[in-house]
This record gives sequence, structure tokens and C-alpha cells, in this order.
Amino acid sequence: MNVISHEKILILDFGSQYTQLIARRIREAHVYCEIHPFNIGMQAIRNFKPDGIILSGGPSYVTEPDAPMIDRAVFDLGVPVLGICYGMQLMVHLLGGEVGRAHSREYGYAKLSAKADCSLFAGLSEEQDVWMSHGDRIEKAPEGFTPMASTDNAPVAGIQHAAKQIFGIQFHPEVAHTPNGPAMLENFLFSVCKLTADWTMRSFIESSIESIRKRVGDANVICGLSGGVDSSVTAMLIHSAIGDQLTCIFVYNGLLRQNEASAVMSNYADHFNIKIIKVDAANLFLSKLKGITDPQQKRKIIGPAFVDVFIAETKKIKNVKFLAQGTLYPDVIESVSHKGPSAVIKTHHNLELGELLHLDLIEPLRELFKDEVRALGEELGLAKELVWRHPFPGPGLAIRILGEVTEDRLSILRKADAIILDELKKNGWYDKVWQAFGVLLPVKSVGVMGDERTYENVLAIRAVESRDAMTADWAKLPYDIIAKISSRIISETRGINRVVYDVTSKPPGTIEWE
Ligand code: XMP
Repeated sequence: MNVISHEKILILDFGSQYTQLIARRIREAHVYCEIHPFNIGMQAIRNFKPDGIILSGGPSYVTEPDAPMIDRAVFDLGVPVLGICYGMQLMVHLLGGEVGRAHSREYGYAKLSAKADCSLFAGLSEEQDVWMSHGDRIEKAPEGFTPMASTDNAPVAGIQHAAKQIFGIQFHPEVAHTPNGPAMLENFLFSVCKLTADWTMRSFIESSIESIRKRVGDANVICGLSGGVDSSVTAMLIHSAIGDQLTCIFVYNGLLRQNEASAVMSNYADHFNIKIIKVDAANLFLSKLKGITDPQQKRKIIGPAFVDVFIAETKKIKNVKFLAQGTLYPDVIESVSHKGPSAVIKTHHNLELGELLHLDLIEPLRELFKDEVRALGEELGLAKELVWRHPFPGPGLAIRILGEVTEDRLSILRKADAIILDELKKNGWYDKVWQAFGVLLPVKSVGVMGDERTYENVLAIRAVESRDAMTADWAKLPYDIIAKISSRIISETRGINRVVYDVTSKPPGTIEWE
């Protein structure tokens, strides 16, 4: 479902690891776009009413029997098309050109010699650094197409059909290694497709509000608010549309960081007047976690306990027809693209709640990437520090206390964790790292304080840099910040006498310790 009536680009996915990056670059140019599997069919393509079509790269060879194909009618829609890498080879193959296997697979930087009279390269110098990743190459362009660029390894690295406005490029303009890639994509969007860059967060808010109002009517909507960015922005947006018809449920599980629960209430209930029911279920969660030390077991207790509490609370509210959730576009792509070739399948835990409650889902962020959600949050008036918070796992501090989770250990970890965050913020490091937190270890060590021998807990500081949490590097925090954190934790937190710094990357480690 697409609520947007803006100009839009359709990206057909042939399974490239970079397909999402194409969408990112286009959205950054303020043009709306969606990724769909290559095999959605001509009718769906026509219904989408694209202003331009991009065929992504992919791992296949067009000359192989099972290579993903499209109907060549795509090229007769009267809509500009840009084929990237596999997308270009497919175009050449379908339109009667020749694609052959390159002598060697080309991977990495290449010097492109580009003709400025091709609209894609307008305004750029003739020589361009580009990023290549391909096995096949174009031997002969189809009739009506002119070669517009070349590299040493790929004599036909760019083609155009000027009359039909169809273009193909062998390299990847969407990756950071092609420095002028954004300019080439913008040439496609603005000079070729004649778009106007009308995709802004303000226009998104307006059209979302309208469609939420229309869909909800006079029914009520519930939303689980965790204090994280996605659920907060979801709640804010729906609240802007339907005010008090939205009730948020904040399940307090007792596993949050210092002052977090009170911040949720003061931010959203007091400041933004959102109707929030806070359910204090801390005792329930802690009693269920008593004696549990296995990390997966902890998760298996916390997830279902949340669902039980949430469902019980929802049943008390009248005329509820919808459950709002902060699903983002990457999750949507992952769950639809298994129909296409990029077979990343992710189980959708979120669907479960809607099904259990027999409620329809409202997912107003399902077309947005994370950084767009942040921009939307700021546009809706959320404070910067909320919008730019580090990710925090659903099971909370329970997976940062190794061994049994007790009230006592939670209290020790909260204080130490608050000191870590405080020092990073004061020293300008909070925004430079992806996540930073304390981990309370299930070991004690000997120390000496004053003249006394101590035998207390060990705390690990974990700080990582990452783009997406899939891989991460331990952050090279300056020694003086680590020293300050260590001495403050030991002097201000009773129960810790030793602080260590985690210097493990992911892989082989994970970001969390459990
Ligand atoms: P790992 O530890 O697997 O973490 O490297 C990757 C990212 O996921 C977060 N994480 C979780 N988030 N429930 C969540 O909602 C979980 O059970 C969970 N485990 C890890 C982690 O904080 C990091 O951002």
C-alpha cells in the first residue's frame, strides 16, 4: 500500500546487495521511490505509475538459463529507464544487443571515460572514478543505443537510447566509492525524468495524517510505546492525526536504564499530551526472571511476558480497531524480497501482536528508512537527544547483567551505565558511537580501597562504532575518557571495584554480551 501521491521512481530488484542503497540515494535527492521484486508483473508496474524505472544490479548472468527476466514491454511504457550493472545487461539482452562473459570478473575501482553529451553525465568531467562489480560485459549495444562511456575492462560501460530515454551503466552509482554517483542519479531524476524533488518530511506528514484519519474514522488505536525512536515517532505521527483516539501503552518491565521510565512519561504524556497508560509490571518480570541465567531463556521469558501484559491492558480499552507499529522500510523490503532473488527472510515478530489481538495494523513508517524516521521525529518536534538515542534492546538490562537479574544488580548497573553515557555526552563522544553501555559481569575480583581489601563486581564498558549493527568495531575512546569513567564508577557506584574495556569487534563478538 502506498499512501503517497508524489512523483515516484520504481526500483526493480534483481538481488543486488546494493539495491537499498539506490533507494537511499534517491530519497536523499527528495524523490520518493519504492523497491519491488523484479517479477511483480507488468500490471503491477503500470498500476504503480512510475515516473522513472531503475533496474538494479544482481548476482546473476543474463546468459544463464535461470537468470531473472522481465517483460520487455517495460521499455515501451514511455517512462525513462536506467539499468545498473545486471539491469543494464538484461536491457541489452532483451533489446537485441550482445552480452558476453568478461575475461576476468571486474571488481573495484575503475576509471570511466564518459561523454558529457549523455544526460547522465551532464556537468561532470570526462574522467570519473567508478565502482565496478560484474562478470558479464556488453559486447554490442542494441539497435538505437549509443555507447556513452567506457573503461579499460568494459569498452561499453554506459549506453543511451536518446529518443526513448533509456540508459544503462555497468558501474554502481549508488555506492560511496563512485564519488559522482549521486550527481549521475540526480541527472537521471531531474534532467531525464523531469522530477521536482517534492519528497520532504513535511509533505510526508501531511499525506500521512490525511490517510490515517481516513482509515481510522472514529475508531481507537493503540500503540506500544517503549521510548525508542521508532515507537515514539509512530505515536507522535498518529497523535497528530487523531489526538485522543490514540492510547499508548507503556509496559514498564523494570529493565530500563536510569530515569528512562520517568522520561517517557514526562516527554510524551506531560509535554505532548499523548494519552499513555503506564503499566508497572516490574515485579512480574523480575519474578519470572528469578534464578534464570541463560541468555536465550531470558529473552523467551521477557518477550511473551510483554505480550501478555500488553494484551490484558488493550482489552480494557473500548472500540479499539487498530494496532500501531513502528515497522520501517528495511523490514518491509526484507520480508517482501524473499519473493525476489535477494533471499533475506526475517521473521516478523510484530505481526504476532496484531494477530493475537485481531487488530488491523497501522504502520505509518513502513515506507521510511531509519534516518528519515529521525528527520520526521525532529519535524514533529521531538528533542534531538530522543531522536538520536542509541538503540536499546527489547530485553533491556536483563541481557547486560550476566547471570541472574536481581533488583540489586539492576541498581548497580543503572548507576554505572548512567556514568558511561554522561561522560560520553560531556566529551562529545555519544554521537560518534553506535552504542555504548555497561555490562555487569558475574565475577568478583579483589581490590584495595583505602587500606581495605575489597571483593566486588567487575563492570565492562562496551562502546562500538557501526553503520547497521551487522558488523561493528570497538570504539577507540580516548584513554582519558575511559579513565574518567572508570574512576567515577568505582567511586560513585557501590559494588564495583574493577572496570574493564571491551576490545572485541563484531564479528567475532556480538555487540551485546548475551
Ligand atoms: P548483537 O548483540 O546481536 O546486537 O550484535 C545487534 C543489535 O541488536 C540489538 N539486540 C537486540 N534488540 N532484542 C532487541 O530488540 C534483542 O533480543 C536484542 N539482542 C541484541 C543490540 O543492542 C544491537 O543494537
